[in-house]
Amino acid sequence: MLGRLQIAFVGLAAMVASPMVGAMAAEAGKAREPTELEWSFDGIFGQFDRAELQRGFHVFNQVCANCHSLEHIAYRHLSGIGLSEDEIKAIAAEVEVTDGPDEFGDNFQRPGRPSDPYRHPFDNEQQARAANGGALPPDLTLITKARPAGPDYVHAVLTGYGEAPPSEFEVTEGKDYNPYFKTWTIAMAEPLFEDAVEYADGTEASVDQMSRDVSAFLAWAAEPELERRKQTGFVVVAFLIILAGLLYASKRQMWAKLH
Ligand code: HEC
Repeated sequence: MLGRLQIAFVGLAAMVASPMVGAMAAEAGKAREPTELEWSFDGIFGQFDRAELQRGFHVFNQVCANCHSLEHIAYRHLSGIGLSEDEIKAIAAEVEVTDGPDEFGDNFQRPGRPSDPYRHPFDNEQQARAANGGALPPDLTLITKARPAGPDYVHAVLTGYGEAPPSEFEVTEGKDYNPYFKTWTIAMAEPLFEDAVEYADGTEASVDQMSRDVSAFLAWAAEPELERRKQTGFVVVAFLIILAGLLYASKRQMWAKLH
């Protein structure tokens, strides 16, 4: 009886304390741990799912690219997610690129080409901050490497909106409550909503689905050579195992003669 009472008391105390814990954790700069998801590219044999990467790129291109850059990616790199040359040409041609100078020394606009770097949403940092209430939308090329939870983190931030903040907690003007971001308030307005994009493969565009897809795409952007790295690792390990076997066999043979 006493045991149960104790448990009930601890439970009650935890419920009362949890908003405070939240506020304290936020002050200490500790975000909530993202949920661990399963990814096709996990583990030693993990591979990217090309359909997922293409959906993720679609989300990035339609939504995220209005604020975030992808510094190290050129359009031609998109062959890595399984897009054909014609598809890449069409995607690149959707943007206007400043080129020049022409024969009169003037710069001019032309449609993008596969060799162009992926479009930058802003001309400079000042312009990016001015458009985002003073906050800078970071480049997302390496975000899944820069944050320990990688794609789980990106997914958590994207789906981490909508919860009511604890009563003690102050959400400053122009920010949203998001416990997965380091300060628990984020200057990025919720970027995704149901059916924000239309998927060519007919997949239902729920917020969770789009968040997963774009997180997988960003994992690819951070490490396009992941599959080759894993294959090489596997070949090297297999080689070492065979070599160890051969060495052991020859050692036995040599020592057998000496005994
Ligand atoms: C309207 C502009 C805008 C759009 C659209 C947008 N973001 Fe953001 N994003 C921001 C800003 C601004 C920040 C910085 C927030 C801060 O510092 O409080 C940010 C921060 C982030 C972060 C946290 C980065 C970190 O440092 O940990 C991630 C992850 C992110 N965005 C991913 C995305 C993805 C993926 C999309 C597309 C689905 C997207 N964003 C769409 C403006 C935007």
